[in-house]
Amino acid sequence: MTNAADLVRRLPSDAFAYRDGVLHAEGVSMARIAETAGTPVYVYSANRLRRRYRALASAIAPLGARIHYAMKANSNQAVLALFAAEGAGVDTVSGGEIRRALAAGFQPGDVVYSGVGKTVQELSDALDAGIYQFNVESVEELRLLSALAEAKGVVAPVALRVNPDVDANTHAKITTGKKDNKFGIDFERIPALENELKAMAGIRLVGLACHIGSQIVSRGPFHAAYQRMADLTRMMRARGHALERLDLGGGFGIAYENELELSPADVAETIRETVGDLGCHVSIEPGRTLVADAGVLMAKVIVVKDAGTMQFLIIDGAMNDLIRPAMYDSHHDIVPVRAPAAGDAMVSYDVVGPICESSDTFAKRRPLPAQRADDLVVFATAGAYGATMSSTYNARPLVAEVMVDGDTFAVVRRRFGVDEQIALETIPDFARRAGDGARAEAAE
Ligand code: LLP
Repeated sequence: MTNAADLVRRLPSDAFAYRDGVLHAEGVSMARIAETAGTPVYVYSANRLRRRYRALASAIAPLGARIHYAMKANSNQAVLALFAAEGAGVDTVSGGEIRRALAAGFQPGDVVYSGVGKTVQELSDALDAGIYQFNVESVEELRLLSALAEAKGVVAPVALRVNPDVDANTHAKITTGKKDNKFGIDFERIPALENELKAMAGIRLVGLACHIGSQIVSRGPFHAAYQRMADLTRMMRARGHALERLDLGGGFGIAYENELELSPADVAETIRETVGDLGCHVSIEPGRTLVADAGVLMAKVIVVKDAGTMQFLIIDGAMNDLIRPAMYDSHHDIVPVRAPAAGDAMVSYDVVGPICESSDTFAKRRPLPAQRADDLVVFATAGAYGATMSSTYNARPLVAEVMVDGDTFAVVRRRFGVDEQIALETIPDFARRAGDGARAEAAE
């Protein structure tokens, strides 16, 4: 027996719900989106994005804190423009992201630039753009940035990204705040750096920054890290640094399966308890929590393969479109677009894509109402780190993206087809000469 309520438990009902037997994104039928835009396709709810942003922004507003959206989670121009219109700032990690942010309508004064390996060109371009803040991750980067700024006759506003050495209790591939990670400047090494810093003419030290990891679902690690940041701010102020900003990073976890997610009130309360009395301009850099549940990946069933003891649901979406299950063993609820009828048989499927590796598996033994070829399914909570991590592996088109707002929708990234991919490549003459032909030519 199928229970539709169970199937849609991870879809926010204000954005994705069954209507007349078909899953809708806001007022638009997912079947209609599939007809228009094809599959696989990411579908985002504009109103859900706005609601997630407003809930967090208003919870931290009494603290005077600002959101710098970590655009690595979803950097589609439409998503960026939506957050810019809401008044967000943006956290970037490459020259490419800065260009994307500015193209979508963010102002240079909204841009924080983080990242452990910024090239000379990237730093130079960011100085020319006049961004709000460089989050600097090493002494070497400080020296380089200072020299570049001096040569241009400007002064770079810098926050030191400190590694607070706390355990975030999250997946090893996305933890960043432990001492042995490549990120940030070792907490213990800051005092030694301070004198050199004072002598750097191209740098104005405005504050400190940290980010301890991603998909963290309890307050403890944040509390510990923010407390260390508060302590360090006090110590450095006592040593004569006019620290006025604190960037506390992102990492606020969400519910993919049964996790208890951090609420906006939890985030605000943790900030208030730890750094609330410092009088700093506080900012946070959330990515996932703003976009994850506002997006789904829709795919079409190619074939249901009966392998005796196993039933494979082979779909036209694959690990190149959504890599999180292959890379982090992550869970995404899978929801049929056609509402289950009462009494529909449940089948335990291995849900897989067509790519030639076993890691192209989205779920094993997942109970779903029986599916047929051409049925549509969606992966829930795929708005974060879905499209941004997609690729064209196996010569597949790059996945398309759609945004829905009420009864309207738009294709916000068209599919990047194989012909266009081929057009980027060239065949030099020597590649065509092979075997005997090439040798014969050489002998002449
Ligand atoms: N700030 C910095 C400096 C970061 O490195 C990150 C994420 C964020 C903010 C935003 O973190 P969030 O609020 O989204 O947790 N691809 C992985 C996640 C990688 C996160 C990397 N850094 C995934 O799909 O789970």
